[in-house]
Amino acid sequence: MCGIIGIVSNKSVSASIIGALKKLEYRGYDSAGISTISNGQINEQKCTGRVDNLEKILFQNPSNGDLGIGHVRWATHGMPNQINAHPHSSEVVSVVHNGIIENSDKLRKEFEKKGYSFKSQTDTEVITVMLTDFLKKENLINCIHKTLEKLEGSFALGVIFKDFNNLVVGARRGSPLAVGYGHNENFIGSDSYALKSMTNKISYLDDGDFCILYKEKVEFYNSDKQKINKEIFELSNEDNIADKGDYKDFMSKEINEQSATTKKCINEYLDKTRNEINIYNLPIDPKKINKIRLIACGTAYHSCLMSKYWIEEFTSIDVEADIASEFRYRKVKLNPNDLYIFVSQSGETADTYAALEKCKKNKVKTCGIVNVVESSIARSADFVLPIHAGPEIGVASTKAFIGQMIVLYLLTLKIAKERNDVSVEEYTKLVLDLKKIPNLIEETLNKQKNIQVIARDFINAKGTMYLGRGYSYPIAMEGALKLKELSYIHAEGYAAGEMKHGPLALIEDGMPVVVLAPKDRFFEKTISNMQEVIARGGKVLMITDDTSETTNENIRFKFQIPKTNSTINSFLLTIPLQFLAYHVALLKNCDIDKPRNLAKSVTVE
Ligand code: G6P
Repeated sequence: MCGIIGIVSNKSVSASIIGALKKLEYRGYDSAGISTISNGQINEQKCTGRVDNLEKILFQNPSNGDLGIGHVRWATHGMPNQINAHPHSSEVVSVVHNGIIENSDKLRKEFEKKGYSFKSQTDTEVITVMLTDFLKKENLINCIHKTLEKLEGSFALGVIFKDFNNLVVGARRGSPLAVGYGHNENFIGSDSYALKSMTNKISYLDDGDFCILYKEKVEFYNSDKQKINKEIFELSNEDNIADKGDYKDFMSKEINEQSATTKKCINEYLDKTRNEINIYNLPIDPKKINKIRLIACGTAYHSCLMSKYWIEEFTSIDVEADIASEFRYRKVKLNPNDLYIFVSQSGETADTYAALEKCKKNKVKTCGIVNVVESSIARSADFVLPIHAGPEIGVASTKAFIGQMIVLYLLTLKIAKERNDVSVEEYTKLVLDLKKIPNLIEETLNKQKNIQVIARDFINAKGTMYLGRGYSYPIAMEGALKLKELSYIHAEGYAAGEMKHGPLALIEDGMPVVVLAPKDRFFEKTISNMQEVIARGGKVLMITDDTSETTNENIRFKFQIPKTNSTINSFLLTIPLQFLAYHVALLKNCDIDKPRNLAKSVTVE
């Protein structure tokens, strides 16, 4: 949510800021802006819309200066217009902010009384005003410290000062901020991905820290103004590859990569010579786990729901899946014998991170399942299992979802084996089946054309339902979420057996309904629910591995997935649902990689 970049260099920085903002656009894209110091003045330029618009403005009216800050916005306080776009500047200071200042109204009133006036409706502008005020009487360090002390809420900040034309300040509480080291230049950025084209040496601010970047050094301070040192991490080259290649957009690339990414992930965890899953040293001995709690948001939450079914199926452990924004405020009884698993592609989602911090404070055992291994969640959890999916840029998550499910499935099987909840023979068979997933995904990906045809039925729909039972139910929910996110069509994922308790009233003539009906132990019951929908005029897209002709009657479309062990056909059911959302959105001319109102990394509550 909102992307920040800051650079101090020995050469002009505006082109590098624009380059980094383009990489950060997945975090917010309703407006963009830049400030540099040139000729002893703050030069602020901003606009609504995308970074491309800002680039055009800078082309007409270049922004010189060898230090500066940039921002892409996802509006929280105030409409997405030019005035509310960041940076927010006074005569002497310019600020970019990611997060929410919860006491901004109170601070605004306090400073209005002192005679300050505000130009925007944002919460951020109080930071600009406070820094301006403190600068009149304090040195730089005290000015920053006193300002940060007064702020409540979450923030990552980038600040430049007219009268300190050799430095950029960064600060963090709750929202992520990375520091990058270059040759005669240094950087701050919301994530390492934005900095990767400029450096592979990165440090991370922890909550309460602030830093001062000069072109030849970086100074770090903690919340007590004490100077501190930071570990420097070297980023792998592998993750640098994040372009669309020959694909029209990142989402289609990411969907089509799923056979390769699952293969990579499985190879990372499976022993090369034995059929053994290499997950050791969990923070609790698997035999002693009392209960597993899975916590996440959005698509990652659906992977948790999926895993709940697997954990119940294969282990004797009690399990619950929770939405992080609820879990963090509930009076959950945290138990030292339970394992708390946090699933997050970005590893930065504010609610998931806060839920993890709550667990850490209560000294219970935590595990993070993330894609970004340098993320806050990865650094904070007791134990980390990466999903090895490579950078995911499309806002709607696809390959990360499949990756999260793979790791959760591997973890489930490993725990089941360690507890002797499954026999060695059963475990070996399940591992062998698991190895087949990448090829089965490939086979399913090759059927994309069939879905292209079906997508036409959805484009004028008022709404649609996705139905499934058992393992297919979480996948139905994820399929509905994908359609909502991408095509703005109302979609509900429902347990097929619950339809008669309300949602059946929504079915009317011609309404498209997706039914997930693999040939598992729920098949006959799902078919009955499907017939109830058809009887009321629903146009059914059935997704199944059943090959018999008998079920074909009255079904508008049938999409065939390959046959496999019923506990893992969820991986295959997911693929057509991703394609469906993608093609409906494409037909409706929606912005595939950047759906309206959404952002990839949600670092505000
Ligand atoms: C946002 C994204 C979703 C994602 C969710 C959780 O809403 O648009 O695609 O599932 O955040 O993100 P995380 O990074 O924690 O998996």
